[in-house]
Amino acid sequence: MNDTIDFDRYDRIRPIRWTGQALELLDQRKLPFAVEYVSCEDSDAVAAAIHALTVRGAPAIGIAAAWGVVLAAKTIEADNGATALERIEPAMQRLNAARPTAVNLAWALARMRRVLAAAGADWREVLAREAQAIADEDLAANRRMGALGAALIEPGNGVLTHCNTGSLATAGFGTALGVIRAGVAQGRIAQVYAGETRPWLQGARLTVWELEQDGIAPILIADSAASHLMKTGKVGWVIVGADRICANGDTANKIGTYQLAIAARHHGVKFMVAAPSSTVDMDTASGDLIEIEERDPGELFAVGGNRTAAERVGAWNPVFDVTPHELIDAIVTERGVIERPDAAAMTVAFGR
Ligand code: MRU
Repeated sequence: MNDTIDFDRYDRIRPIRWTGQALELLDQRKLPFAVEYVSCEDSDAVAAAIHALTVRGAPAIGIAAAWGVVLAAKTIEADNGATALERIEPAMQRLNAARPTAVNLAWALARMRRVLAAAGADWREVLAREAQAIADEDLAANRRMGALGAALIEPGNGVLTHCNTGSLATAGFGTALGVIRAGVAQGRIAQVYAGETRPWLQGARLTVWELEQDGIAPILIADSAASHLMKTGKVGWVIVGADRICANGDTANKIGTYQLAIAARHHGVKFMVAAPSSTVDMDTASGDLIEIEERDPGELFAVGGNRTAAERVGAWNPVFDVTPHELIDAIVTERGVIERPDAAAMTVAFGR
């Protein structure tokens, strides 16, 4: 088995581009039929793009928000970082309010605040350097997680993933999809299955497209086919990303993840969460304290703009759920693997 990964082959998509003047975001609402970047010239345009899912995925929205702060800096005058921080705070609050569940957003803004508070007259350069560092560190973390997560997979296994956790959701390579890329590159993974991920179809529209760019041919399944797939014995692991991992290992991720974890346990299929340490929130004790984003029920009434439900029906559209830590076999971050996560194991790995 070859454990080296050819990143030129397996890591080509970049959803976020900083031009020096503006932030270009690959418009994920239009994929896979149009590959178009939208240009954000100010921080409110970035906040709107995060809310509209033009850019999505926990690490990606953190990175986009960091660049949003750099854009906000263009509109204010200040002699030092502390003064700039006061003036930039309202823009940061608007970025932070764009989506509530993924902790990476608040985490990235906290990092930007921290360096700004300590900066001198060169505070604009300090902000730009920090935004770039957040992106660079994410890419490095994903590549490291890929190797760590893939090592857990016995050769010959099939895997099932949910939502999109790839380059599109990160600075590059991906979290769960990074593990899968590494596992395929190393010849461990026999077949990748991807769930559609209703209602926004991140699996069908994004994950399948992204893997095909790498020459990996995934098999798309309806979300409702997952238990049946597990029963056939064709998958040994379910591998997902995370939007927030609590101090006890409870993990928020795309709606539908929880039912996959339940089904996996029932069928003896292992369940892996892959996420950078920026997704770990040791200040939130357990999953019932996480704010779950609820989006416009209208997202459930149509597919691709074509109405599928009768007029005047009700709907409920929570877009994340929480998988209790007891159902998780391994949490993989760039810092290492936590098997059978719980509060004690998380504290050993991440401190308080
Ligand atoms: O609503 P989305 O598409 O932003 O949700 C994304 C997910 O839930 C991903 O699984 C998670 O952010 C991990 S991405 C590396």
